[in-house]
Amino acid sequence: MPGDLERGRQKVEWARAHMPVLEGIRRRFEAAQPFGGLTISAVLHVESKTAALALALQAGGARVHLAAGNPLSTDDDAVAVLLESGIATHAVRGESVADFREGIRAMLEADPDVIIDDGADLVALIHTTRKDRGKIRGSTEETTTGVTRLRALARSRHLLFPAIDVNDAEMKHLFDNRYGTGQSTLDGIFSATNLLIAGRVCVVAGYGWCGKGVASRLRGLGGEVIVTEVDPVKAIEARLDGFRVTPMLDAAPQADLIVTVTGNTSVVRAEHFKVLKDGCVLANSGHFDVEVSRPDLEGLAVSHRTVRPSVEEYRFADGRRAYLLGEGRLINLAAGQGHPVEIMDLSFALQALSAEHLAKHGLTMEARVQPVPPELDRLVAEAALAPLGVGLDHLTPEQVTYLGQWEEGS
Ligand SMILES: NC(=O)c1ccc[n+]([C@@H]2O[C@H](COP(=O)([O-])OP(=O)(O)OC[C@H]3O[C@@H](n4cnc5c(N)ncnc54)[C@H](O)[C@@H]3O)[C@@H](O)[C@H]2O)c1
Repeated sequence: MPGDLERGRQKVEWARAHMPVLEGIRRRFEAAQPFGGLTISAVLHVESKTAALALALQAGGARVHLAAGNPLSTDDDAVAVLLESGIATHAVRGESVADFREGIRAMLEADPDVIIDDGADLVALIHTTRKDRGKIRGSTEETTTGVTRLRALARSRHLLFPAIDVNDAEMKHLFDNRYGTGQSTLDGIFSATNLLIAGRVCVVAGYGWCGKGVASRLRGLGGEVIVTEVDPVKAIEARLDGFRVTPMLDAAPQADLIVTVTGNTSVVRAEHFKVLKDGCVLANSGHFDVEVSRPDLEGLAVSHRTVRPSVEEYRFADGRRAYLLGEGRLINLAAGQGHPVEIMDLSFALQALSAEHLAKHGLTMEARVQPVPPELDRLVAEAALAPLGVGLDHLTPEQVTYLGQWEEGS
């Protein structure tokens, strides 16, 4: 369905009005033109906040090309605005997997100088189709799964160019993964199901940054939360945060809702479906649609139908039913509106600054996975203080001296 330009303008205007950090960067870009003559190819979830980032890069002189990071996460209204603004955008909500892949291929064909990736699909494509970096100065990576893939790629062969790990910047994962995914995952589940959380047994698979956010918000709404983990430290952390921690096999027969946020594959699979509680809702907020095994669901189910938009019912031979949300894709984007705007202000401010860093220094940087320069993380933190209503104390000269010495103790 083609987007509505006027509705798109309103959405992008709303996003920009609530993204003061990125807006400040956009104004500086407009004056300094750090991307003059450069092409940026970005694979991201294409919606209003992403449009604000793309427009900021364009204001900095870049020719921006944008493709969907997921076939179900596109907001067609935002696409209408992007196209009108001259940003070559390859994204249609609900597009086929073939069209989605074609969009990523188009990002490569745009012959980029700088790449912005979310899940490492574009970087992976480059490394399977090319032997040299061409004029690519480097890439940035938005999410945990993309960083995991980049590290695996770097272990198996040389990276062709530097890749900045935006995900692990403090101003990204501490807020985007935890508070962003925490809130928006529930937004997606509510929109899809209109069901109650209070008094329900909610299972959260994975107690990483995203899992912590999802689990705490489900508890805040009165859900009885069980966490599943494979890492003993995270499992103990979840226990001491007050959650029950059990294997998925024990949790599945009790679960009214299961949310996966592991970045792993087949976390909920045939052995769990065989004991799943009747009516259990299955949602995934991890990057790829492999955390809830759809092939296993399809193999075990005797019937399948769509019962609401974004809700598919699978019925097993003994009559039990499981409800899969958003085809097992990121539920916060498949059925919700993505992360809250203020959160994406921080993440995309880091993306914009990291892209600028690559434009300036990428050609002389080592071709490896690199952290966001700490000064950029701090710049975003400082710019976010006032908009978020945060006041800081400052170290007194005595405190600076005290913290810089070793002689004075007890
Ligand atoms: N929905 C979104 O908008 C959004 C936002 C940010 C990140 N993500 C994605 O969410 C996923 C998780 O990201 P994160 O930052 O929380 O990662 P993380 O590495 O901090 O946490 C993942 C956790 O899952 C655990 N885990 C792995 N396999 C498991 C299994 N089989 N069963 C139970 N636990 C298991 C790991 O031990 C780890 O503690 C990634 O795919 C990431 O890309 C999604």
